Amino acid sequence: MLDENQLSLIKEKLYKYCGIFLNDSKPAMIKNRIYHLMRDTQIYNIDTLLSNIESNAKIQQQFINSLTTNKTDFFREVFHFQDMIDRSLPALFRLNKPIKIYCCASSTGQEPYSIAMSVLYAKKLYKSSIPVSIVATDIDTNVLQEAKEGIYTIDFKVEKFPHWCDIDEYFDAL
Ligand SMILES: C[S@@+](CC[C@H](N)C(=O)[O-])C[C@H]1O[C@@H](n2cnc3c(N)ncnc32)[C@H](O)[C@@H]1O
Repeated sequence: MLDENQLSLIKEKLYKYCGIFLNDSKPAMIKNRIYHLMRDTQIYNIDTLLSNIESNAKIQQQFINSLTTNKTDFFREVFHFQDMIDRSLPALFRLNKPIKIYCCASSTGQEPYSIAMSVLYAKKLYKSSIPVSIVATDIDTNVLQEAKEGIYTIDFKVEKFPHWCDIDEYFDAL
């Protein structure tokens, strides 16, 4: 059982390491995730766990990984991608310089891959050959590993792709 003081320490540490603010409405979620962390680290004493989180880089990373929320989808909030195709990319193409795109919290990769598909489509649409590179980062090392692998199970009834996105052009079916 975590007491109020321990819960506060956990929230403080998470905020200090990665700027994630967990509000007071989520004690059950925090407790559940900390119990999983205890099981993974085999450290069942909360005070020992808290001091290890501070002093041991591997456990600190496991702590961060356990408390991030990684919800993502391909073309999540699709209007952003459409706006990129309609406004940002043509304006950037006109500058005639290489374009660098940074996706700073990429989770398992669906967002940077959606950006990549949008860029490829826009290059074709506007007949542009400007080089475009995309860098994606995330503070959670587990999701980054999945993003690097780039293997996804997609339920097309749930995940809606834009009409222009030809799945066969951008994915290899396994
Ligand atoms: C809800 S997901 C959103 C993923 C994607 N951007 C999307 O909208 O589909 C939030 C991601 O932000 C990451 N994150 C949280 N704090 C971060 C930080 N300080 N630096 C980099 N990534 C961070 C989490 O690990 C998580 O994978």
